[in-house]
Amino acid sequence: MPAHDAETPDEPGLNPGGPLLYNLVYCSRAAPGVGEAAVDTIISTARRANPLHGVTGMLVFGSGIFFQWLEGPRAAVQRLMGLIKADPRHLQVVLLSETEESRERLFPTWDMERVEPEDIRDVLADAIDSAEDENNAAALRTLLIEVETRALLSRS
Ligand SMILES: Cc1cc2nc3c(=O)[nH]c(=O)nc-3n(C[C@H](O)[C@H](O)[C@H](O)COP(=O)(O)O)c2cc1C
Repeated sequence: MPAHDAETPDEPGLNPGGPLLYNLVYCSRAAPGVGEAAVDTIISTARRANPLHGVTGMLVFGSGIFFQWLEGPRAAVQRLMGLIKADPRHLQVVLLSETEESRERLFPTWDMERVEPEDIRDVLADAIDSAEDENNAAALRTLLIEVETRALLSRS
């Protein structure tokens, strides 16, 4: 038996040989006139296109601010972000975080889920509680802190 087999315990969540997952989080301001109808259209487009590219995530919209979490293969997420950045339905796109890690998806069944601002903290807290590995829980805690500290999505 090779020596390293005995020395490398299985650590939940760490998946060094697994595929890398690319994560991108940004926020932006909706362009004038962009409201519920436009957001519905964006969600339909995303639900149609994202599964074709292995992208999952969530979109929060409230008080004229978008907040989106994207996860998937690096090339797919970066290509999509190129399209999103150029989209005239929003302005002032600010990148909040960009990471690449070997871990499971946080939202594997969400092609693109719309989350209401008042629900974002509960969604993240539930996801932390049910996270099966420590890497995912850590990523979710970071996201929750991002939401809390930037106060972008404060209840009004
Ligand atoms: C805030 C926001 C989020 C978006 N999220 C996605 C998404 O997750 N997936 C997607 O395919 N398009 C998304 N779009 C739409 C893209 O910007 C673009 O319109 C879409 O990819 C279709 O581009 P195409 O018509 O050039 O193919 C989003 C747009 C905005 C303004």
